[in-house]
Amino acid sequence: MLRLPFAIVFLLTAAFVVLCSCGHAPLGCNEEERQALLRIEGSFKDPSSLSSWKGTSCCQWKGVSCNNLTGHVVKLDLRNPCYPVSHEENLQPNCKFYDYVLEAQHVHPSIFQLKYLSYLDLSGNNFHNSSIPAFIQTLQHLQALYLSDSHFSGRIPFNLGNLTKLLVLDLSFNALLYADDLYWISQLSSLQYLYMSDVNLDKAQN
Ligand SMILES: *[C@@H]1O[C@H](CO)[C@@H](O)[C@H](O)[C@H]1NC(C)=O
Ligand SMILES: *[C@@H]1O[C@H](CO)[C@@H](O)[C@H](O)[C@H]1NC(C)=O
Ligand SMILES: *[C@@H]1O[C@H](CO)[C@@H](O)[C@H](O)[C@H]1NC(C)=O
Repeated sequence: MLRLPFAIVFLLTAAFVVLCSCGHAPLGCNEEERQALLRIEGSFKDPSSLSSWKGTSCCQWKGVSCNNLTGHVVKLDLRNPCYPVSHEENLQPNCKFYDYVLEAQHVHPSIFQLKYLSYLDLSGNNFHNSSIPAFIQTLQHLQALYLSDSHFSGRIPFNLGNLTKLLVLDLSFNALLYADDLYWISQLSSLQYLYMSDVNLDKAQN
């Protein structure tokens, strides 16, 4: 007769312990995502500003934030710390911008394994005149995408129009970036903030 209540108390306690551990010690990061982050780090010529990217707790790494219930990486903020957060501000005078520039031949495709990203900021870095990868459309949860002043070139991929949760899109200050058709912007029905200063729109239609 006593077994059932005992079992219930045991199960409730177990559930409580499991749920509680989420709030306090965050879930260790997802191993697949940790490996993806390490490959992204490896694509940078000089990743010394990412010196905290060591060990197993990738959710504690600089610029990385995880959802504390699922452990998935939801935010990757690699913005140059000297690059102003808002376009209304000036470059910080005493900050050594060029010491913090992350340089890579292109955006490493492992970034697309961070499937739960809702926030991605690569501004103030140098992607060597590569194009914005069309694959970016696989990051279906993206709400904020900042690619300002990062030496991107070529046509803005129409595929950005598939990122329907986007609230913020900043492609500004990539002078070699161009658009010849802006229809895709009309698909971004949640968009609240669009910044394309110094992007070449000479040939843009629609
Ligand atoms: C995650 O943790 C932060 C900081 O401890 C807290 O403010 C936030 O509410 C938590 N989110 C969830 C979904 O538990
Ligand atoms: C990118 O293009 C500009 C202008 O054509 C050129 O000056 C610069 O050297 C290029 N950068 C790289 C890394 O190829
Ligand atoms: C993404 O966008 C492109 C260009 O607008 C479109 O051709 C393609 O079908 C879209 N893909 C998905 C999965 O929606």
